[in-house]
Amino acid sequence: MNKIKEILIGTNNSGKYKEISALLPKEIVKHSLKEFKISAPEETGKNYKENAFIKALYYSKKTNLICLSDDSGLEIDLLNGSPGIYSSRWGGKKKNFDLAINKIFYEMNKIKKDWKKDNRAKFFCCLALVWPNGKSFFSEGIVNGKISKKKKGKKGFGYDPIFVPKGYNKTFGEMEPKLKMFIDHRYKAYLKIKNFFG
Ligand code: IMP
Repeated sequence: MNKIKEILIGTNNSGKYKEISALLPKEIVKHSLKEFKISAPEETGKNYKENAFIKALYYSKKTNLICLSDDSGLEIDLLNGSPGIYSSRWGGKKKNFDLAINKIFYEMNKIKKDWKKDNRAKFFCCLALVWPNGKSFFSEGIVNGKISKKKKGKKGFGYDPIFVPKGYNKTFGEMEPKLKMFIDHRYKAYLKIKNFFG
């Protein structure tokens, strides 16, 4: 297999960008969307895989580069898997995750006032690797955990301050990025495509 030597990291989310570029080998040439003036495609897919494919195919065609995109989300058992593929949209146009986290607490409280023992959740990630000729490869990763009753920690992004991964007693927001990076859903998905990069 020809190893990939140059890649476009197809995300506008700076948190995801940092994690993905830190996972990829140092010697690979990495491009960010900031180098190109491309507006984001509409995420009209029914699931993570379709949305990851929409993004990676679109950016790959626009730039003629191999593109790696991620579609991910937080799934809360008590909310029947919400916000799920709408995780980003719960932050509104301005991607305000204080707002999104408050909405999560509000929705959970509405279903059960004392949800301390009903706090199971997971992060899901689908990575799509797409070549300009349309060839594609997908991988998925999950990290199980629970929702914290309070927001904790200022590290990370998105829902990190309320997610406590299984086996730990800190939220992702309290963890050093280097620790979070090697236990999360994105890392688990990355392990399955690692070989493309040598
Ligand atoms: P999308 O895949 O761009 O539609 O956005 C996924 C959304 O899920 C992000 O905007 C984050 O809010 C959330 N998310 C995905 N992965 C993580 C993570 O590792 N930490 C915190 N939030 C995440």
